[in-house]
Amino acid sequence: MRGLSDTELESKNVLLRTDLNLPIEDGEPQKTVRFERYLETIEEISEKGGKTLIVAHQGRPSRSDFLSLEDHAKILSDELGKDVELVKSFFGSELGEAVASIQEGDVKLLENIRLLSEELQNLPAERHANDYFVENAEKYFDIYVNDAFSAAHRSHASLVGFNSHLDDYAGLVMERELESCRKIRDELDSPTLVLGGEKPSDIIGMLEKMIDDVEKVLLGGVPGELALVIEGNSLGEKKQWLEQQGLDGSKDELEALLDEHGEKFVLPEDVRTADGNQEVGEVPEDAMVWDIGEKTEEKFAEKIRESDSVLMKGPMGAFEDHPSGTKTVVEAIAENNGFTVLGGGHTSSLVQRFDHDLEEFSHVSIAGGAFVRFMSGEKLAAVEALR
Ligand code: 3PG
Ligand code: MG
Repeated sequence: MRGLSDTELESKNVLLRTDLNLPIEDGEPQKTVRFERYLETIEEISEKGGKTLIVAHQGRPSRSDFLSLEDHAKILSDELGKDVELVKSFFGSELGEAVASIQEGDVKLLENIRLLSEELQNLPAERHANDYFVENAEKYFDIYVNDAFSAAHRSHASLVGFNSHLDDYAGLVMERELESCRKIRDELDSPTLVLGGEKPSDIIGMLEKMIDDVEKVLLGGVPGELALVIEGNSLGEKKQWLEQQGLDGSKDELEALLDEHGEKFVLPEDVRTADGNQEVGEVPEDAMVWDIGEKTEEKFAEKIRESDSVLMKGPMGAFEDHPSGTKTVVEAIAENNGFTVLGGGHTSSLVQRFDHDLEEFSHVSIAGGAFVRFMSGEKLAAVEALR
């Protein structure tokens, strides 16, 4: 795998795939650790005279965080101190002209790549290499840089389709994340896993592969709620919400894990709703669950304090408005002097949100799904394409 130091960048038209998929609050993308790390790659290419078109996605169609990258372009302009135009056309001469007008050291940002239906199909690299978008776009570039480690588990067009057309390189984030993830995989010994977030399918594969080697699994967020539903709790309106959002897709796999390895799992005993703290069996029918409860956060914190190594992926609840459970857990991890790892786009953003320093943790990965898949030994499509 080649990196940025292996190529001349001066006057080159660079297609840079980043992962600027950011947490959205009040409709606005947040400048998190993830965002800051990408600034380094963008600045490095600019300093060396590259002409960069940044490709990124935001959210998924059907989710509320699926947005235009207009605000991302504004934030990039502010941070880089120069105008970053949003390119709205994915095809033809309009795209060609937009790329041709990028000056040395300048950057433009392509609109949310997930507006293209062909982007989202998980297909082999050879197939995506023949996509209309890929075949048309590749002619405007000299090199392809993939820096989107956190999306590397998706075999999407912009992540695997260009490698066979252009000289391909890993960006700085991709290189550093791969290196630290390899270290983490070697150093993590019988960890306590703290798993939450809104993508249960991301963590099931990891649990299936790692369960024998983990000390305990503390389940919060949607995975915790799913587990509570499996155990027969009605959870007020949350159960229906999980079904409506299609988040109960991994229920069978989770149930099998709970059946076979129940003793490893620690599930919430209480939860927070608008009416306050409730025992899991006593959530009123019309109440929505927002966070793990008081007793649970204390119990999780205690387990974390007792652990020699801890890996957290995914917040414990809707931390933007209901931070308590997530905050307590992150604090306990920060105070733990063992080997501690945070992984995930939202999870890594918690460091700043709760006023911690990156140095309080052994590693903070900006990747979630890609990170846990790497940990469990899965090959990542976009990393394979770079080899
Ligand atoms: C992430 O934030 O985890 C990555 O950008 C991947 O997003 P996805 O799960 O919607 O593919
Ligand atoms: Mg994420």
